[in-house]
Amino acid sequence: MERPYIICHMLTSLDGKIIGEYLKEERAIYFTDEYEKIHKHYGCRAWMCGRITMEEHFTFGHQFDLKQDNIPTIPRTDYVANKDAKGYAVVVDPSGKLGWTKNYITDDYGLGDHIIEILTEQVSDAYLAHLQKLGISYIFGGKEQLDFTVVVEKLKCLFSIDKLMLEGGGVLNGSFLNEGLIDELSLILVPIADGASNTTTLFETSYFLKKPQPVNFFLKDIEKLGDGGIWMKYVTKRD
Ligand SMILES: NC(=O)c1ccc[n+]([C@@H]2O[C@H](COP(=O)([O-])OP(=O)(O)OC[C@H]3O[C@@H](n4cnc5c(N)ncnc54)[C@H](OP(=O)(O)O)[C@@H]3O)[C@@H](O)[C@H]2O)c1
Repeated sequence: MERPYIICHMLTSLDGKIIGEYLKEERAIYFTDEYEKIHKHYGCRAWMCGRITMEEHFTFGHQFDLKQDNIPTIPRTDYVANKDAKGYAVVVDPSGKLGWTKNYITDDYGLGDHIIEILTEQVSDAYLAHLQKLGISYIFGGKEQLDFTVVVEKLKCLFSIDKLMLEGGGVLNGSFLNEGLIDELSLILVPIADGASNTTTLFETSYFLKKPQPVNFFLKDIEKLGDGGIWMKYVTKRD
C-alpha cells in the first residue's frame, strides 16, 4: 500500500527540548516565526499533531458533553466528510478527548484546514456522533493501539495526501520514529539551553511503543538562520 512522504518538522533548544523556559526568551520569537515560515515553504497539504499539542494550541481543554442517552451504536468504520479540502489538520486523539467546535482549523490567513481525527475503536459512540454532527472526518488506526502504518496508508487512500508534515509533540514523533515512518527531519536549532530535566524532547518513548529502535539520519542540507540559529534537513534514506 502507498503512503505519503513524511517530514517531521520541529524546533528544539540546544539541549534537544521541544518545550520549556527557553521559549519564553525574547530571542525565541524570531525562531518560532521561522518555524512557521518553513512550515509554509514545504507546501504540504496535510499536517499532523498529537492530542496534547492540539489541546494546548487549539481546543484549550474544551470537552464535549458526552453524557447523552439514546446514542445509537455507530459502526467503527472510517468517516470521510471532505475528501477535496485544500488543507488537512490530522489529529491523533485515540480515545476522543478533544472538544472541537468546528470542523476546521484557521491559520493567520483565514484558510481552514479540515480536521481528520485519528481514533482507536475504544472511542465512545457519543464522541463519534459529535464528530459527524460537526462534519469532522475520522479514521480508525486500531482496536486498542494505533498502528501508524495503517493510518498513513488510509490518509493516502481516502484523502489523496501525498506529503504529510508531522509536527509533534515528542510522543507522537516517537511513535512515527518507532514504526520507521519518518522520511525527512526538518529541525530548527535555537541557540538557547535551559538544562531542564523532565521536559519533552524531540522523540519520546511511551508505554504503548514497541522496543525503541535506533534510526539513522543522513544530512541533506544545512542553513544558517539569523541570530545564530540553524535549520538542518536530514533524510532517513541515503541518496
Ligand atoms: N518545539 C516544537 O517544534 C513543537 C512542535 C509541536 C508541539 N510541541 C509541544 O509539544 C508538547 C506536547 O508534546 P507531547 O509529547 O507531550 O504530546 P503529543 O505528542 O502532542 O500528544 C501525545 C498524545 O497523543 C496521543 N498519541 C500519540 N502517539 C500515540 C500512540 N502511538 N498511541 C496512542 N496514542 C498516541 C496520546 O493521546 P491520549 O493521551 O489522549 O491517549 C498521547 O498522549 C506541547 O507542549 C507542544 O507545545 C512543540
